[in-house]
Amino acid sequence: MPTITLIEHNGTQHSVMGEVGQSVMQAAMNAMVPGIQADCGGACSCATCHAFVEDAWTDVVPAAEDAELDMLEFANERQETSRLTCQLTIQENMDGMVLRLPESQY
Ligand code: FES
Repeated sequence: MPTITLIEHNGTQHSVMGEVGQSVMQAAMNAMVPGIQADCGGACSCATCHAFVEDAWTDVVPAAEDAELDMLEFANERQETSRLTCQLTIQENMDGMVLRLPESQY
């Protein structure tokens, strides 16, 4: 199972194990990582599962589709590396991936 590290804004790290095919958001929610709200439950309609992909991993994650890009317009503190974690499907090559969480999802 790939392990993904999520780093809260305060620096607290959470390494979560995810199943291939599961979303990063779901793996984070299962591990009760603070800072991911996921108000819409993964329907790409809330932008409260927002995270920043660390630079070393931006080539590994598939490009965002239009629906995700549209919803990212509503993400707090949006950056170049912003993604909605409900739209990031865990793959084997994501083992070790690091994402940082924004200070707030709202
Ligand atoms: Fe709502 Fe990701 S959980 S957009």
